[in-house]
This record gives sequence, structure tokens and C-alpha cells, in this order.
Amino acid sequence: MPGRPRVLLTRRIPSSVFAKLSAAADVELPDAAPTPEELRARVAGKDGMVCVFTDRIDAALLDAATDLKIVATIAVGHDNIDVAAARARGVIVTNTPDVLTEATAELTWALILSAARRTAEGDRVIRRGGWKGWTLDFMIGTELRGKQLGIVGRGRIGKAVAAKAPAFGMTAVFAKADMSIDELLISSDVVSINTSLRPETRHLIDRRALARMKRTAILVNTARGPVVDEEALAWALNERLIAAAALDVYEREPIVHEALLTMDNVVLSPHLGSATRETRTAMIDLAVSNVIEVLEGRPPLTPVP
Ligand code: DGY
Repeated sequence: MPGRPRVLLTRRIPSSVFAKLSAAADVELPDAAPTPEELRARVAGKDGMVCVFTDRIDAALLDAATDLKIVATIAVGHDNIDVAAARARGVIVTNTPDVLTEATAELTWALILSAARRTAEGDRVIRRGGWKGWTLDFMIGTELRGKQLGIVGRGRIGKAVAAKAPAFGMTAVFAKADMSIDELLISSDVVSINTSLRPETRHLIDRRALARMKRTAILVNTARGPVVDEEALAWALNERLIAAAALDVYEREPIVHEALLTMDNVVLSPHLGSATRETRTAMIDLAVSNVIEVLEGRPPLTPVP
């Protein structure tokens, strides 16, 4: 009789989901986030793996995992995984689409509103004792009503961001579907990046793209940091080529470009797109369910296409 399957779990998860996984497999859980070397060593002999988007799953790691049948990432983005290399080795890769769509769309709107109405900046002013009282012209922001929201990325999250636009009186347009990306950059008051990171989207928002945007425009990125060239963004903000930026993701997380840290017209959040209690629980549960399905011989629920 074959033994129980063995699964490497790279991060702690809620006990109820852990119990579900341990009922189906022997689970190995490192005390702390594993280094790449540790990950390679631990994955040897495992049938399944549950990881997060900061774990790099490359060909070298997959070569060390000769028994591996599934890599289940607790994320919708899978740019940390060499999916082609996994496929070539017969390893299934799954992600967690759908369950985080609304949370990420909500965070996108939180950032749009914060940048437009300067709430993070205002918070800092109050905390440093800089608020001298109400005046007619203090911290004047931008109204969203009647403006155009240009969305780059017409996936689930981009569509969910667009669905909330009418609530703020904004018209949402998509790059490619409604107009070229150049036209979108030229005509939008808010540009929201909601595309996955792929070779063709790396530094999609570069100096040239930023120079096309309105001087009053706000750039928001809740997708992946490298879609925006941070050096170019710092330059554009410095040159006042755009009005503001709101970022949840960065090129070298957790490092943020130094210049951006000093700018009051930049809203920063620490990669919180899917960080709600409801969503994270659903993501973890989905990743674990994918592993159980595959290890028990059934098709995965949400394979990476
Ligand atoms: C994702 O799901 O890709 C997020 O960035 C991590 O929560």
C-alpha cells in the first residue's frame, strides 16, 4: 500500500485549513520563510507544495523535486513560477483566481481615492502637528466625478475595478478593448494597472508612457511592481509630468524607490491587494483544496492556464 503523500507548506496557514491538509497528507512546515536553498532541499521527496508568490519556483527547484505533482501558489499572480518548466516535468501549477478579485478591486479604489483626495498626505500632516485649522484652500484635491479611468488589463480584477467606476461618476475604458494604450494614457485622468507581469508587460509604464499621460493624471498600480519602471515614475513625478501615484506593489519588494518615499503626492501601501481576512482564508483554502484534489487523483480546481 502506498504511503501518505508528502506536502511542503512554505508558510503558516489557519489551523482549520491546516487540519484539512494534514488529514490528506504528511505536511512539512518550516519554522520560518525558507531561503531558496532551503526550499530546494525541503522540496525533495515531496508530492505537493503550497507556496506564496515570494517563493521562487524555478527549473533548478523543480529538478530537485522529482516526486512533485503539484505546486499550488496562494496568489493569482504566478510570475514567480516557471510554469513552462513545471509543465515540461509534468508538474501541475495552480493559483487562486476569483476569490481575491473583489478585495484587490477595493484596494485599488482605496488608493485612487486616497491619491485624489490626499488622505494619506493629510494623515501625515496631522500626525506631525502641521494642521493649523480649516482654510478655504488647504490640501485641495481632485474630484473623480466626470473623469476617465483608464484600465490596463482586462482580466477579472480590471473588470471589477471598472464595475465600481459608475459609483464615483467615472467612465472606465480598457486598453486594447476600447482604445490603444497610447490613447488611454493620453486621455485618462486615472490610469490603473491591473495586468499580470509577463515579459511584454515588464516596464510597460516607462518614461515614454508616463510622458504621454496628462499632467493632472494619477497612476495606480495594484498588479505587479515591475510593470512600472520606478526610476521613470520618480522622474515623471519630479518633472511634474503626472500629478500623483498610488502604489501597492514595487519592483524590489520590500524595498521602495528612495525618491518615491520622499514625495507627498505618492500614496504607498505594502502589497495589501488581497489582504482581507475573508479573502486570504479563501485563497489558502483554495490552494490547499487544489493540492488535495491532485494528490487524490482528481483534476485541479484552478490550474494556471
Ligand atoms: C496575488 O495574488 O498575486 C497577490 O499579489 C498576492 O496576494
